[in-house]
Amino acid sequence: MKSFYITTAIDYANGSPHLGHAYEKVLTDVVARFRRLKGEDVRFLTGLDEHGQKVQQSARQRGIEPIELCDEAAEKFQGLCKRLEISNDDFIRTTEERHKKVVRALLQDLYDRGEIYQAEYKGYYSSRAEQFLQEKDKVDGAWPEIYGEVTEITESNYFFKLSKYQDWLVDHLKNNEDFIFPRFRAKQVLEFLKEPINDLCISRPKERLEWGIPLPFDEQYVTYVWFDALVNYISAVGYGTPDFEKYWPVDYHVIGKDILLPPHAVYWPIMLKACGIELPKGLLVHGWWMTGGQKMSKSTGKVINPLDLMDEFGADAFRYFVTREMNVGQDSEFSDELFMSRYNSDLANDLGNLLNRVLTMTPRYCGETFPARTIEEAPEKELEAVWAETEEQVVTLYEEFQFHKALELTFNFIRSINRYAEQRSPWKLAKSDDEKDKQIVATSLSLMAEALRRAVGLIEPVMPETTKRVYSLLGYKTDAVWRERLKASDALTGCKVGERVILFPKPQREK
Ligand code: ME8
Ligand code: MG
Repeated sequence: MKSFYITTAIDYANGSPHLGHAYEKVLTDVVARFRRLKGEDVRFLTGLDEHGQKVQQSARQRGIEPIELCDEAAEKFQGLCKRLEISNDDFIRTTEERHKKVVRALLQDLYDRGEIYQAEYKGYYSSRAEQFLQEKDKVDGAWPEIYGEVTEITESNYFFKLSKYQDWLVDHLKNNEDFIFPRFRAKQVLEFLKEPINDLCISRPKERLEWGIPLPFDEQYVTYVWFDALVNYISAVGYGTPDFEKYWPVDYHVIGKDILLPPHAVYWPIMLKACGIELPKGLLVHGWWMTGGQKMSKSTGKVINPLDLMDEFGADAFRYFVTREMNVGQDSEFSDELFMSRYNSDLANDLGNLLNRVLTMTPRYCGETFPARTIEEAPEKELEAVWAETEEQVVTLYEEFQFHKALELTFNFIRSINRYAEQRSPWKLAKSDDEKDKQIVATSLSLMAEALRRAVGLIEPVMPETTKRVYSLLGYKTDAVWRERLKASDALTGCKVGERVILFPKPQREK
């Protein structure tokens, strides 16, 4: 059976991990965990993009070898995955032999079949910036100071025949409406393809760039970094070996909107087509995290590092925040205040207090284990009705990448449990000697626990540690598959109530 194969972009080794990287990994992890919970065999790939000009430059500035810089970066990005509880099955580095050999094989094949040709390339070149410039880079008719001396040079390079596939690509996009999520981005791609595209220069002369994969048919050049990087998606799953079929075609490439056009929507489909490899089933394109209206990245250097929030509040709180705030496809604003407000209201109050109520009152009024439920009146029926609707909708929302809504509905349900608790007020009824009142106390505490058990099941793709901890505090042990666990049951009856703990403590700074 084919696996469900999902990838993130591979991050530039030249930068430090930031919120955008963290988010993309969490988003992909949520999809991967959801699919695993549904019983699918999942392959989840992430990794590091290690070649190119910037890595070479930074390494030179620091007086170290490029590979040393990449090793450091790999450690940082792999560390990020660990801290975030990312469940990736593999982490590819483009400097690995398994990757380089696939890039070289593809290049040789394309070259042999005439899909790659050599031609003169003429352009304005800045040796200070080590890059080609275009007329549009001029300011008031002159080259800006940062470029130093700019000269017109002619360089021989290798080109990949992109343009001959343009019409084919347009047809493919039109015939496969689900290729890009969200759909409005496919329209942007079609818009882009209304203008003729150029063939792609896939080589860089060694005297300008050494840190890359040498072209197999001309060792005086290295491979253009996008051509190299995109291939990671197939080199990591054994392209050229029998294993490959188990994973390819990929189900989703998860990427940010800045790398859709042209790399993932134009270069990659055409590279695959030209190599006779099936196309990806889908691209899942998320928006940007912004602060003060600007895209967040290392260079925007904001005072608070959002990733530090994980150390104080835990990976699950961080995962909850980014998944709850971001409508996949749109941009989202980050601020410390927004984070604290979600943390306090949703996690500490709604979820945390519910657990606290259950763990405090059950032993006080009912004993060490959860009692059976014997009463079923309007409040119980209403809560069950809310659950039935919540469960169905949330699973559908997960399918449709509407994770922010899935969490919103789940937390609405958690608030319904708290309202049910207020309605039944076991803390008041516990003083009564009436037999029926005693049954209501037992039933309500037991139902609160049972509803909480189901609610934390629903958030498992997003907050796996929290699900595990709450299950354990409710004394719930199970081998049941996910959808079974979400069903109404009396699984907790007789289970031992755990010690009272504060799952989401209020931060020190507010005390
Ligand atoms: O583009 N908000 O690497 P990268 C959300 N190496 N996502 C963001 C973001 C932000 N503020 N900033 C960056 C590269 N990202 C290439 C990819 S794939 C074969 C090669 C996302 O480190 C960005 O959109 O600049 C991309 O998907 C990922 O982080 C890596 O960005
Ligand atoms: Mg970038």
